[in-house]
Amino acid sequence: MSQHLFEDQAPERLFSLRGRVVLLTGAAGGIALGLSKAFAAAGATLVLADCNVAVHERAAQFREAGADASSTTFDVTDEAAVARAVAETVERHGRLDVAVANAGIIVRQHLLELAVEDWKRVIDTDLTATFLLAREAARVMVKQGSGRIINVGSIMNQVSRPLLTAYVSAKGAVSAFTRALAADLGGTGVTANVLAPGYTETPFSQAGLTAFRDFVSDWTPARRWGKPEDLAGAALLLASDAGAYINGHTLYVDGGFLAVTK
Ligand SMILES: NC(=O)c1ccc[n+]([C@@H]2O[C@H](COP(=O)([O-])OP(=O)(O)OC[C@H]3O[C@@H](n4cnc5c(N)ncnc54)[C@H](O)[C@@H]3O)[C@@H](O)[C@H]2O)c1
Repeated sequence: MSQHLFEDQAPERLFSLRGRVVLLTGAAGGIALGLSKAFAAAGATLVLADCNVAVHERAAQFREAGADASSTTFDVTDEAAVARAVAETVERHGRLDVAVANAGIIVRQHLLELAVEDWKRVIDTDLTATFLLAREAARVMVKQGSGRIINVGSIMNQVSRPLLTAYVSAKGAVSAFTRALAADLGGTGVTANVLAPGYTETPFSQAGLTAFRDFVSDWTPARRWGKPEDLAGAALLLASDAGAYINGHTLYVDGGFLAVTK
């Protein structure tokens, strides 16, 4: 049987990001480290963005390791800044293939005490900024005839816990927004999906709190917290040709957390 029967399905071709340009927000953070490693390993050109100047150091580390990586600082809730970052990416690299809305914040406050300023801050950062990046990226990608929008969600896209009203509302809406993207971008070659981590050890998470740490490990069928590197396979699937027929989907990478109850 000829090797041609399956050679176009070779994983090194299907999952390759060689020649692809990835713009990733929240790129100084913990989850972003796992995503950036996966994209760099697949050969992508990385544009790492964050409001924290630590992102420059992160990009320097990736360059030292042989990746094609640059960095930029802006606030993802600033409409003009998002548009500028997308335009600069295209000016510099000629294209934008993958836009990842990963920047996020959380406010832990009981509903009865939740200030409208905190509600708005979370909705702005976790939902409205996702819209801003997707819109700007899609304007480029539709013209290109191809592209991948990846919005980073959470298990909180589907379930809730006390004290997370604003976060759960924003993240749940990110799944709905992503379905709307798939509908509006139908027939353009651009897909949009949510990559939704479970409890993952980063500065953002509460892995340092012993009781909570044990609760998550006991509940999760994997019997451990996630690591940013656990997201690599799913990130490459959604970013590459391998994921061409996955659209409007929320992919949970949670060690089975959402599958079980007690
Ligand atoms: N760590 C977890 O357990 C977990 C679980 C599920 C989902 N997530 C999601 O993963 C994403 C990343 O989280 P993380 O755990 O890496 O957190 P992190 O705090 O380590 O990283 C978040 C990054 O976003 C940046 N950021 C925040 N607001 C910004 C703004 N307005 N403009 C630009 N940059 C901004 C921060 O500077 C930071 O570098 C978030 O969307 C979060 O909701 C995390």
